[in-house]
Amino acid sequence: MATNPFTPTFGVTPPLLVGRQDEIDDFRAGLQEGVGAPERITLVTGLRGTGKTVMLNAYEDVAKSEGWLVLSETAGKDVVDRLANTEIPNLLRTIEPNQTRSRITSLTMSGFGAQRTVTELNEPAANLRHRMNQLLDAIDPEVGVLISLDEIHRNEDLEILGSTIQHLRREDRNVAFVGAGLPSSMRDLLASDQSAMFLRRADRRHLGGIEADDVRTALQVPIVDAGRTITPEALDVAVEGTQGYPFMVQLVGLETWRAARDSEQIGVEHAQRGVDRAHRKMGQLVHEPALADLSATDRSFLAAMAQDPQGPSRMGDIAQRLGVDANYASQYRIRLIDAEIIGPVGHGAVDFTMPYLREHLQRDALPGLRGASFPGRPALGAGPSTPALGAGSGPRAARHRVGEIER
Ligand SMILES: Nc1ncnc2c1ncn2[C@@H]1O[C@H](COP(=O)(O)OP(=O)(O)OP(=O)(O)O)[C@@H](O)[C@H]1O
Ligand SMILES: [Mg+2]
Repeated sequence: MATNPFTPTFGVTPPLLVGRQDEIDDFRAGLQEGVGAPERITLVTGLRGTGKTVMLNAYEDVAKSEGWLVLSETAGKDVVDRLANTEIPNLLRTIEPNQTRSRITSLTMSGFGAQRTVTELNEPAANLRHRMNQLLDAIDPEVGVLISLDEIHRNEDLEILGSTIQHLRREDRNVAFVGAGLPSSMRDLLASDQSAMFLRRADRRHLGGIEADDVRTALQVPIVDAGRTITPEALDVAVEGTQGYPFMVQLVGLETWRAARDSEQIGVEHAQRGVDRAHRKMGQLVHEPALADLSATDRSFLAAMAQDPQGPSRMGDIAQRLGVDANYASQYRIRLIDAEIIGPVGHGAVDFTMPYLREHLQRDALPGLRGASFPGRPALGAGPSTPALGAGSGPRAARHRVGEIER
């Protein structure tokens, strides 16, 4: 029996990556064109399951095919330390087995001014910069080093990394950086004062849905390559069932293939069964992780939206269901729009951006959330707090109203 070609697994490159050719071509051009090319600093954003990690993998492949060295990491604590003290030394060892060992020894034991080296290299930033220079010195100046960082969010290590790359670029070093993160993490990062200027100027690539024609190709080609066929009608059903959501392309593909069992040809019934199963699994695999990234208050807002059987939802209704005033609800509206979970529709209404999230909330989450209260005034960062509308309003009044609905 032929192997199922689809890969509904986070971080796993699909059998056919579709709809990302512009990104790939631009990035390649950026590496080829030289130090000043804007694509050399690229930030990828998108919701969970839109293909950020897979996009980074693709950028890394481009860099390798151009002869570049690649340092691939997931952001988090110690990323600077891991790069400076493990990844780069490992890479140095692979490119220059003999020379490198002596260089590394000279770095830690004696070499150019041992004392200065030791004190300077105690600083993570100086250490990373030094290691990067060492690496760049050891390779052909025509090629460079790509640092790829997944799951980025605001933290000290990212600032160190940012300033290091900024320095190296100012020194006309052949370096590039690609990072990926959720829209909300990226917003926090870019809003922070410390965030290196270079990140704010980065070439930003937003991963959204995939066009229907591309989804067709992404389903059909792997099926045929793996030794089966799919009827045009079945393909229509499967394409429609993905709603263009990248993760769903793989999940619908896998379930449709599976539903066909031993049949050489995938027909409409198989596709329908496959789509049904994919939709049932989407809640656990896509919606739940996305909801888990949000605050309890954000989730209450979404639950209030989901009380409308169909979208869009009117802001007035949402505020009323939550028992808060319009200004208060609108702050959450902005947060969730920034996080790209919802989008504005016309005047005064919003709708879900993620396919089937409304249905998921209605089916699985709403019973638990319906009674949930809208907690006290939210911490919305440093921005000015918006007073509530109406006489006797203001934070105290707002809190009082919230208290009322809590009962
Ligand atoms: N362009 C594409 N064409 C076909 N399948 C894709 C495409 N992009 C991503 N996928 C598939 O979607 C799934 C999710 O991709 P990926 O893990 O890169 O998402 P992500 O954005 O990194 O998610 P998370 O935020 O949870 O880390 C994978 O199964 C991947 O194979
Ligand atoms: Mg990812």
